[in-house]
Amino acid sequence: AVGDESIIDYVYKVVVIGDSAVGKTQVLSRFTRNEFCLDSKSTIGVEFQTRTLTIQSKVIKAQIWDTAGQERYRAVTSAYYRGALGAMLLYDITKRDSFDHVARWVEELRAHADNSIVIALIGNKVDLEDKRAVPSEDAVEFAENQGLYFFETSALTGDNVEAAFFKLLEEIY
Ligand code: GTP
Repeated sequence: AVGDESIIDYVYKVVVIGDSAVGKTQVLSRFTRNEFCLDSKSTIGVEFQTRTLTIQSKVIKAQIWDTAGQERYRAVTSAYYRGALGAMLLYDITKRDSFDHVARWVEELRAHADNSIVIALIGNKVDLEDKRAVPSEDAVEFAENQGLYFFETSALTGDNVEAAFFKLLEEIY
């Protein structure tokens, strides 16, 4: 049964990165526990959550790491990125700044993570469409140029969260 460590075929480490308050922790808890919290506190330090799922009849344990986006809490060490096979790079579609900083996050990944890491660019909070500050086309263009997968999600409604994680994990597989 799922949860039985003995039948896990692969463990995949995935890191979630992006500016503070873009929704990293909430996207992750939507994926691993199907939960959402509106007054989520800023992450301090590093935490991880897991979810076990099946891809092409292999049992995969996704070990997903979450860290604070705030510079003052971040000890960006190679340790955080070490062994990561995938990265979810989030921005908030209502905060232009968080998208403008995406290039810097990609640089950080290229500097610290393995060259073969699979990266998904995620525009989160699509439930706030009326406050959108980042057109989808801008992100599509950036993602194409950088060779990233692109999704728009909502941790609040759950929209596309599964699809984004499954795509990332399938591409790692
Ligand atoms: P740090 O830990 O500071 O790096 O932040 P974070 O990126 O982990 O953000 P977090 O998940 O804590 O979410 C920040 C705020 O945005 C919280 O108030 C969340 O409830 C809210 N939020 C997260 N995802 C969504 C979403 O999809 N839609 C809406 N409307 N709010 C969201």
